[in-house]
Amino acid sequence: MPSKSSGQKPSYLGLLNAIAVGESSAEPVFLAWADRTDDAQLANTLRFVGMREGEHGKAFAKRMLELGYEVREGDYGGNDEQMKIAGSRRSDLRKFEELGFGRGISDNDVFDTMFTDKNIDPITGGLLGRYIAEERDSARRLRADYERLQQTDDVQKAARKAAKSAKKSSARKPAAKSPAKKAAAKKSAAKKVGAKK
Ligand SMILES: [Fe+2]
Repeated sequence: MPSKSSGQKPSYLGLLNAIAVGESSAEPVFLAWADRTDDAQLANTLRFVGMREGEHGKAFAKRMLELGYEVREGDYGGNDEQMKIAGSRRSDLRKFEELGFGRGISDNDVFDTMFTDKNIDPITGGLLGRYIAEERDSARRLRADYERLQQTDDVQKAARKAAKSAKKSSARKPAAKSPAKKAAAKKSAAKKVGAKK
């Protein structure tokens, strides 16, 4: 097995480092959003996905240590922008769109090529396989919440539209006569008939 002690640097060390850094930085983004949303179901999903992200970060950092290497932050740009969006007062739908978390699983994803390196040792391979399956499951869960919120939003928009057009059409109708006006009109009509006789 390649390791520092064997003098061989694993060819997949960069991949492990990228996952460790990326996953650790994603956890606080999900938690900040969970703290901000008023939707209890979404908050549950965000906390669950956030926990997974944090655990992935730790598990990959641990695997690197087992191989004899430490995580390097390198030129990782940080998560400032994501944290700003997640903790903001934007709607949940807007956050999904701006953070890109509602896309679900696509035919080609970033995980497809992770096993092309034929040197991956069995322990790392097991960890990587679990990570990929969990990431795709997280994407599915987030997508389901995104679609649910979209449906609620569509229903609310349709209700607002219907209320607006009902208000408009009632404004166009002539005002109904008051009982006093009705009686006066009846009286004057009777008078006219009497005058003709
Ligand atoms: Fe992730």
